[in-house]
Amino acid sequence: MKTAANTISRNAQCWCGSGKKYKKCHLLKDQKQVPSSAEKYRHKGRSIILKTEAQIDGIRKSCQLTKALLDMVEERILEGVTTSEIDEWVHRETLAKGATPAPLNYGRGQGRQRIPFPKSICTSLNDVICHGIPNSKPLQNGDIVNVDVTCDLNGFFGDASRMFIIGDVPDRTRELVEVTRECLNLGIEQVCPENKLGDIGHAIQSHAEKHGFSVVRDFAGHGVGLEFHEAPQVLHYGQSGIGEALRENMIFTIEPMINMGGFECKILGDGWTAVTLDGTLSAQWEHTMLVTENGVEVLTA
Ligand code: MF3
Ligand code: CO
Ligand code: CO
Repeated sequence: MKTAANTISRNAQCWCGSGKKYKKCHLLKDQKQVPSSAEKYRHKGRSIILKTEAQIDGIRKSCQLTKALLDMVEERILEGVTTSEIDEWVHRETLAKGATPAPLNYGRGQGRQRIPFPKSICTSLNDVICHGIPNSKPLQNGDIVNVDVTCDLNGFFGDASRMFIIGDVPDRTRELVEVTRECLNLGIEQVCPENKLGDIGHAIQSHAEKHGFSVVRDFAGHGVGLEFHEAPQVLHYGQSGIGEALRENMIFTIEPMINMGGFECKILGDGWTAVTLDGTLSAQWEHTMLVTENGVEVLTA
């Protein structure tokens, strides 16, 4: 598809007449623009955007920064560190790389009801399913924690999360963390243009339940790239062969949340933190991926 962003050379003068080089002027805005000719189609009233090559380049870079930030966390995290400290590391390094942390001030609800997320990452400890808010409590031996990072680099979003085990945990806890990671990988294996969204959910649900765990229903993966959360919803349970068909150049996350006990959740009084209703442990892993002609490219790997 022809757009200004892939027809004008980076060092040529910008088309707007500013006299600046294109790369210093409108290039990034043009890359982000969804051309009117862009392929979109409707899914539950919202459009699924099939990304252009220029957009894929921008999103790929943002995803690689997200991966690098998680690598940094992986190197430094240990017993005694607080989740606020992890938040500060990621916040600083994100800005140093010319990006912004997408969660900071991200809104939930509308108008006066809106509750902005107060930190730059989500840290979800033990029975927290997702959207945990970093705080000043040190990580302890036996904790499991998910660190979820989303970057906005030049208006392009990359979203991924990993689990970390602090010290020694019981075998069944380690199994929960490992099986959840396998659930993500089995979901990714279903991604190709011949398959449907339901194939992803089915692969994840079968694996989790085979091990005696449950799949959270209240949160899902999502389209991502030009916005933090786009259509479609990517459910982590369901039936194979049903749901929206996957198409080349879709970009979305898969981010299964798997519980040791029941799948029911509740949201704490801070308006964000989702915990298991029965107080059992919960684990989650997340990647952002691109549907390619033959299969999948995991952009945050
Ligand atoms: N990163 C989360 C996701 O995977 C969303 C976090 S929203 C926030 O979709 F506001 F809590 F950051
Ligand atoms: Co996500
Ligand atoms: Co995330």
